[in-house]
This record gives sequence, structure tokens and C-alpha cells, in this order.
Amino acid sequence: MKKYLVIGNPISHSLSPKLQNYWLKQHNINAIYDKLKLEEKEIEGIIQDIRKQKIAGCNVTVPFKKKVIPFLDKLSIQAEQTQSVNTIIFEKGNLIGHNTDIVGFDKAIKSLNFNMKGKKILILGAGGVVPSIVFALKKMDVSEITISNRTKQKAENLKILFKNLNILEWGNLLDFDAIINATSLGLNNEKINLDFSKVGKNKLFYDVIYNPAETNFLKEGKQFGNTSENGAKMFVYQALEAFKLWHGVEPEINFETLKLLKND
Ligand code: ATR
Repeated sequence: MKKYLVIGNPISHSLSPKLQNYWLKQHNINAIYDKLKLEEKEIEGIIQDIRKQKIAGCNVTVPFKKKVIPFLDKLSIQAEQTQSVNTIIFEKGNLIGHNTDIVGFDKAIKSLNFNMKGKKILILGAGGVVPSIVFALKKMDVSEITISNRTKQKAENLKILFKNLNILEWGNLLDFDAIINATSLGLNNEKINLDFSKVGKNKLFYDVIYNPAETNFLKEGKQFGNTSENGAKMFVYQALEAFKLWHGVEPEINFETLKLLKND
């Protein structure tokens, strides 16, 4: 039986096995998908197991999306430009790193009916998923992208990958059309220490977090008359793209799929 994995640290929270195993069963594919907590020094060994096809393929999550790159043979254009890999496949003798977070974010936003073209975007955070979000936003022709991160240097480092990023001191706000929480604040019910009462209405408040389904950040956005959306669809769509890469079939996204994410 083929075996797939998601690797990361921590990993216990990951809902990828639930989703991928659900789709495997639905498509009668004889494979299992598991999660594995790794230390950095174990990455090389796991990737060699993919080369030996002891493991058929894997997903990569925080904090290893960049750290896996030296052990791969090729990168997709998106993985190369974001220096971020979340899906590894083995094809014609090559280990190839893909980035399906970009398409995940893109499809999630497009499902919202919020046109990003010409809009001013503020991103909170500069962690593992932010290069993928910036890449997707640039393709949507937004007018400005500003990054605000507690550790300013990490925001500055993103300028190595992308031109024309603005940096804002953590704790400040500026005028925006859409704000994206890409920090981990909210996973444990934390509040983000920003005053959203004066930002106006009809903006988009987007949170990468999907568990809990409504963070304080999204609650506040809604309370002040804005659209709010959590990261569930992004998560499902990135998983769907990975499934397509490994198995060549596209699972259906239905009510059941989204319910899987709510059970935990
Ligand atoms: P990583 O930083 O390892 O890539 P991540 O989960 O992708 O991990 O990113 C966590 C993000 O949440 C970072 O932007 C982090 O800010 P720092 O770069 O300053 O660490 C942000 N974050 C986590 N806890 C925070 C807190 N208490 N206040 C503000 N930002 C926080």
C-alpha cells in the first residue's frame, strides 16, 4: 500500500490526514496518509525515503517549507519564486517540490466575490505561508502590499523575494481594503492588539486560521461591518491540488469535506 505523509513540527493539529484519507477512500485508491513530527536533522532521511519510494509523496508544513529545498532535484516555478514547498512528488526519477498554497489562497479568494484588483492589502505576519500569499496577490494585480510583523527583520527579508513591498511597524495600522491575518494569533483565542473600530466598512478581513472557525480578528472585522473569511477553503484547496498532483484525479469539495474540518 502506498504511503503519503505530512511532515512538520508541531504536527498534531494537522487535519491533512483526515482530508486526504477521506478522498483516498472516496476514490478507491489503495493508499494511506499519515502525519509525522520531525526534527530538522531528520528531513534528509525522509526525503531519501521518497526517492526510494518507501514513501510515495509528502506534504510539508511549518517550519520546514524552505528547509526541504536543498534535498530536492527540481522546483516548480511557484515553489522557486516563493522558496516555499508544501508538496513533494517523485516523477521520472526526480524529487520535485511544488507549492499548492498559492493556488489554495487564490481559489479561496476567488470564491468570495471580492475583487482584489487595484486594492491595498495589509498582511499581518511574515511566517511560512506569507510568500505564497504575496505571490498570489501579485498575480491578482493588487495595488499595494504592506507587511507588518512583530519581528521586523522577517518582514524585511521578504523583500529579497518580492519587489515593492511596504513594511509597517508592528502595532500600527494604515488604510487598507483587505487585511490578512497570517500570524498564529487567534489559534488559542488571542487578540491582536490593533484598533479596528476606525478602519471603515466593506473591507475584507481574511484569517489564514480555520480552527477556531472564527478568531477574535474575524469577529471584530464583522462587528465593524466588514466581510470576514477564515482559512478553511485555502486549506482544502491546497490539499486538493496536492491530491491532484499525486493521484491525477480531482476530488469534489462538498459539505462533507468542510464538515471534516469542523469536527476537531
Ligand atoms: P514561522 O515564524 O516559524 O514561519 P509561522 O507559524 O509561519 O511560523 O508564523 C508565525 C507568525 O506569527 C510570525 O509572523 C510571528 O511573528 P514573529 O516573526 O515575530 O515570530 C507571528 N506571531 C506569533 N506569535 C506572535 C505574537 N505573540 N505577537 C505577534 N506576532 C506573533
